[in-house]
Amino acid sequence: MSAGRPSGGRDPAAAAPLPPRTLWVNGRLCRGEEATLSLFDRGARDGEGLFETLRVYGGRPFLWEHHMERLVLSAAELGFPVPPAPSLLREAVAQVLETDGLSDAVVRITVTRGVPGGRPTRTGAWVEAEPLASRLWAGAAAGAASAIVSKRPFEPGPLGRHKTTSRLAYHLAREEARVARVDEALLVTRDGHALEGAVSNLFVVVGGAVLTPPLARGILPGIARALALELCAGLGIAAREADLARADLLCAEEVFLTNSVQEVVPLATLDGRALPERSCGARLGESYRAEAARAAG
Ligand SMILES: Cc1ncc(COP(=O)(O)O)c(C=O)c1O
Repeated sequence: MSAGRPSGGRDPAAAAPLPPRTLWVNGRLCRGEEATLSLFDRGARDGEGLFETLRVYGGRPFLWEHHMERLVLSAAELGFPVPPAPSLLREAVAQVLETDGLSDAVVRITVTRGVPGGRPTRTGAWVEAEPLASRLWAGAAAGAASAIVSKRPFEPGPLGRHKTTSRLAYHLAREEARVARVDEALLVTRDGHALEGAVSNLFVVVGGAVLTPPLARGILPGIARALALELCAGLGIAAREADLARADLLCAEEVFLTNSVQEVVPLATLDGRALPERSCGARLGESYRAEAARAAG
């Protein structure tokens, strides 16, 4: 398996090839197509991998310790070999960013259960980075983010609270969003509990209170979600975990989503309905960006 950029089906004669990006793979810096992973790696074969996607502001990864904590705790709980030390991964991130001249970027760190057989097992680990602009949701960038409720019922199962590379169920929801030309698809259980977005956590404002589905529902404990809750406390905004029904989405005054790359995204529309308010999400978004700017120094 190689890690070059997908061509996206473009006519090779019509477009100049994209420059290969730099990746750090198991301790080595490589360029695009040179980056390979064994077909016997359990991450490649069976989706036995964990990853973190985080945003880099002015060259500094934001909330690094939180992302590392989630990665290391999941790896331990799921019986992965010990991933590379956070200090080594941090150095790898710095090397990739520096080589590709990136400062405002999105970094992805992936670790897999490695190649089976023999002890100790070898972990697969790689680090990659992309310029930020290519990753921002189009609607959010234009100031009018939109989402749909996925038509496919979703159950997070016991792995939902880990950020695993087994993404097919989430990607099917993302595909629904792409077809509907919206930024995100919200996941709802068969019995009508709203959970999270395919790549984001969900907040609604009902009767002036900020509510977000409980982690106990098996959703991903988002790093941006945790910061948003902390910021609410600091701003004196009443916020708490609460079970949300599909109907709550339909009558919410405001809906906003959180994600480490997209930050806090107030929705302009949900399932085509214009939401009456965006002020709470906008206020939190401002506060989130101020926090990121402070951390970037
Ligand atoms: C299913 C799911 N929920 C929530 C999130 C948001 O997590 P974070 O705030 O850590 O980016 C993600 C991020 O990709 C996700 O995949």
